[in-house]
Amino acid sequence: MKSLDTKLAIVTGAARGIGHATAQLFKQNGYRVALVDKDKEELNNLSTNDVNEKKFCFDISDSKQLDNMYEEILNWHNRIDVLVNNAGVADFGVIEKTTIDRWNEVMKTNLDGVFLTTQKAIPSLKKTKGNIVNIASISGLRASTLRVAYGTSKAAVIQLTKQQAAELGEYGIRVNCIAPGPVKTKLAMAVHTQDIIEAYHDAIPLNRYGTELEIANGIYFLASDKASYITGQTLAVDGGFEATGVGLPSLRK
Ligand SMILES: NC(=O)c1ccc[n+]([C@@H]2O[C@H](COP(=O)([O-])OP(=O)(O)OC[C@H]3O[C@@H](n4cnc5c(N)ncnc54)[C@H](O)[C@@H]3O)[C@@H](O)[C@H]2O)c1
Repeated sequence: MKSLDTKLAIVTGAARGIGHATAQLFKQNGYRVALVDKDKEELNNLSTNDVNEKKFCFDISDSKQLDNMYEEILNWHNRIDVLVNNAGVADFGVIEKTTIDRWNEVMKTNLDGVFLTTQKAIPSLKKTKGNIVNIASISGLRASTLRVAYGTSKAAVIQLTKQQAAELGEYGIRVNCIAPGPVKTKLAMAVHTQDIIEAYHDAIPLNRYGTELEIANGIYFLASDKASYITGQTLAVDGGFEATGVGLPSLRK
């Protein structure tokens, strides 16, 4: 087991995309990182021959699996300093075609998963006065079509962040949230048509998609001591999307 004072960050959904970039950033900054994902194949594709990172194949929406996950992680390293609740799924569909099964599938990972993963980390985070960063979305800040389940799940994560911050503050545990704008990951590209890509470019002041690293930098900042008096907040890392009203494409012409 590694020395007691090396910090540990758990990143869920770390096999690819934003989660993977986040795990790498924490590692570069001296953390040990637990890469959690339910996708065995994607995890197997990652080469991890570094003693400071380890893969854990678990589904964070399943309470029993989470118990096993924490047991394995704490057997590997004896403390938890940061939890990044990043694992998420997207399902875009019109309201009338969003069956309750599709709705529940989205809520199970995006909302229940964040609730459960956090709840079970509290005893460890109390000991380290650690902190949590939840990953929502600009879809949780602004409504759009096709996102009835996804957008609602992410808006709930923003409120859940405030609830968690309010209650856990007295233990010195901070809880914040990042609302990413569009990033060309597998999740986004499965639901972003060419039309949607162009519309995002139009609506975003910086006129482009973000990168995985740009989102990871926001997550790392909120988890770091530089954010020691920030809790209960949602930071949009979105190229300015949330700040704008109507008319940007016309004004650009
Ligand atoms: N990419 C974007 O444009 C964008 C925008 C806003 C918010 N987000 C959010 O960022 C987070 C990361 O998304 P991404 O774009 O990197 O997606 P991604 O699909 O590339 O990665 C998500 C990872 O989470 C894992 N995962 C999903 N459900 C899980 C579960 N129940 N248990 C364990 N692992 C699970 C997947 O296997 C996958 O490896 C998500 O919460 C997503 O909603 C993404």
